[in-house]
Amino acid sequence: MLPLNSAIIGCGAIFPMHAEALRQLPAARLAAVVDIDKTRAAAAAEQYDCRSYADYREMLQDETIQVVHICTPHYLHAEMALAALRRGKHVLTEKPMAIELADAAAMIRTARETGRQLGICFQNRYNATSLRIKALLDSGAAGKLIRARGSVRWHRDEAYYRSGDWRGTWAMEGGGVLINQAIHTLDLLQWFGGPIRDIRGEIATTGLQGVIEVEDTAQAAITFQNGAVATFSATNCHPVNDPVEIELECERLTLKLADGLTIETRDGQIERVEEINTATGEKSYWGMSHAVLIGHFYHCLETGQSFPIAGEDGLTALQMVLAIYRSSREQRAIPWEELALAAG
Ligand SMILES: NC(=O)c1ccc[n+]([C@@H]2O[C@H](COP(=O)([O-])OP(=O)(O)OC[C@H]3O[C@@H](n4cnc5c(N)ncnc54)[C@H](O)[C@@H]3O)[C@@H](O)[C@H]2O)c1
Repeated sequence: MLPLNSAIIGCGAIFPMHAEALRQLPAARLAAVVDIDKTRAAAAAEQYDCRSYADYREMLQDETIQVVHICTPHYLHAEMALAALRRGKHVLTEKPMAIELADAAAMIRTARETGRQLGICFQNRYNATSLRIKALLDSGAAGKLIRARGSVRWHRDEAYYRSGDWRGTWAMEGGGVLINQAIHTLDLLQWFGGPIRDIRGEIATTGLQGVIEVEDTAQAAITFQNGAVATFSATNCHPVNDPVEIELECERLTLKLADGLTIETRDGQIERVEEINTATGEKSYWGMSHAVLIGHFYHCLETGQSFPIAGEDGLTALQMVLAIYRSSREQRAIPWEELALAAG
């Protein structure tokens, strides 16, 4: 019966993206918000005219809540998702789905056992540019992928890391630039070029030494099963936030994503695809597709279709991140099967 009653756990920085998306959706009604910070929860509840809780387990007792959005620090995603699924709720969780492979695998198993949907917020898959790249690859129009490049150069300073006690820690964030910021680009690279054969990588803490214990910089070579290699680099120590760059050299086309997408044919013809913010109609920047993703999640709940960015996709992205960490520690390429085994 529509609308579906939803709850959001975590009323911090990303909360408005979810709450505003729900406000626009006839299929959803924000019925409750949860935050251990009671002042935050109360302010959100007043703004969205809904109930507030300090303890998510209490909210989960409410049989009328059907969908739970998880917008909390990374280390809490698995425990909250598992509890919500076991109470019969559908779950849409922010990335990363978990910080440990075994937890991610348990979430996938529990979604299957309970027959509930588990969606992961990789909203950049819904960017017009990403969808066009995917269509050109899947239709065969681009030809076989030969090599790829991905680059994330963003600015996250000390003030950002001091804005939450979980940020910049192995125990609560689970890593740095890779698991938080660059995971979107890793997800896109494998969505375009996967499946993966192996990953070799290296991490370092450079400009944020003494501020964070995790990496602020990383690089990797991702070898796909078809033999194509993606070179990848990421940093949070750039002076400004540059547009994310992805370049795919294919048999028939070169696809360059930076500020919009440039499609080049072998005979030099060029087509541009701009990223348009569907909410405002204006030219958009990276990461404006949250509302589109959330709308599609509810459409899938309404129609009974499987949401396409499921637990398995969240697990793959987490495996990529953890492979780079392990490769950096052990100074060797990590074969994909090793990570599959670790996920159990
Ligand atoms: N998809 C994206 O592009 C995107 C962008 C930003 C953040 N995120 C993700 O969103 C999540 C939250 O990030 P943020 O920047 O909003 O963090 P934040 O620190 O601003 O907010 C987290 C909120 O969770 C609350 N919280 C902590 N423990 C809790 C508990 N046990 N029960 C209930 N509430 C609790 C905190 O009080 C805080 O209000 C992270 O997973 C982050 O990676 C995703």
